[in-house]
Amino acid sequence: MSLKDVRLIELPKIEDPRGSLTFIEQANHIPFEIERVYYIYGIPAGASRGAHAHKKQHEFLIPIAGSFDVLVKDGNLESSYHLDRSSCGLYLPEMVWRDLCNFSMGSICLVLSSGVFDEDDYIREYSEFQKEVEMLS
Ligand code: TYD
Repeated sequence: MSLKDVRLIELPKIEDPRGSLTFIEQANHIPFEIERVYYIYGIPAGASRGAHAHKKQHEFLIPIAGSFDVLVKDGNLESSYHLDRSSCGLYLPEMVWRDLCNFSMGSICLVLSSGVFDEDDYIREYSEFQKEVEMLS
């Protein structure tokens, strides 16, 4: 996988005088089967999350409240995304390093994942990630 597979996905947004509504349909919006949903919230000022890659799992990150930055790396290139709309999420395929930072106060990151939690699917050392990328290329 490379950074070209990382992409923003627009979700439907239905607005009326009572507010906005966004929905997610796996078949129409998500490029993998969802097996887990988790969310990150109560994030103190200055905190960073992520700092890992997944060997096999895919994820889709949605800023359902507030905003944050996602820095992605594939071992060769890097890119960053500012997520600040609840109707637009970021798709991360396997083997993409991600760092999440610059969370606004009260922000919430909703994550859809292709697998149940499995610590063995994580690469938490960037040097190990680089080695894995070299082995795969
Ligand atoms: P961590 O991977 O450090 O979170 P993030 O990538 O958002 O910075 O996870 C924090 C802890 O929570 C770690 O002990 C693993 C655990 N955890 C679960 O038990 N289940 C889950 O679905 C997730 C995402 C994490």
